[in-house]
Amino acid sequence: MEANVTLHVDGEERSAVVETRTTLLDLLRDKLGVSSPKKGCDHGQCGACTVLLNGRRATTCLAFAVAHEGASITTADGLADVGDLHPVQQAFLDQDGFQCGYCTPGQICSAVGMLDEAAAGQPSHVTPNGGVSDPTGIKLTDAEIRERMSGNLCRCGAYVNIVAAIRQAAGAQAAGAQAAGTAADDTQAAGTPTAGTDYSGDRS
Ligand code: FES
Ligand code: FES
Repeated sequence: MEANVTLHVDGEERSAVVETRTTLLDLLRDKLGVSSPKKGCDHGQCGACTVLLNGRRATTCLAFAVAHEGASITTADGLADVGDLHPVQQAFLDQDGFQCGYCTPGQICSAVGMLDEAAAGQPSHVTPNGGVSDPTGIKLTDAEIRERMSGNLCRCGAYVNIVAAIRQAAGAQAAGAQAAGTAADDTQAAGTPTAGTDYSGDRS
């Protein structure tokens, strides 16, 4: 049995007819030619196929394409603006957070997703007291980063530099949030609403 599936991939509307058993990963790679998400295990265990699905990280090898009709997908490629790398991409370059690079698109999408989760106050398994007793928010220690990225394996073992890259990106995000907070205070005083993070990939 076949079905037509339409997705918004990195800001572009893309459609294909697929068998209903087709995974999102196979639709992206084999039907749409989107090769940024990688097939590692094809069993939900390595994270190489991670994208941002409607703004949240997801392993595409475990998702049926037909279950996500109309979804917005951002791959690691779609995170970059023309001529401008995403801060997480830049941090991976700065910190040498890869060797062969096969796991890297999934690592980057997962890192972007987890930074947003932490910023939203979602605790991990290692967050002290479930994060409820710290009014200053979740501190992204190396233990937090490792735990939150534990679904993304790197066969080259570049973990030390991957953690360093995410530490750098987290610092940049915190500094940006602080600056945005100051600007928002000024803007709200002038009566203008503020907006949240948008990873829809829509560049129009
Ligand atoms: S290919 Fe999807 S988790 Fe490994
Ligand atoms: S850089 Fe080679 S698998 Fe991670």
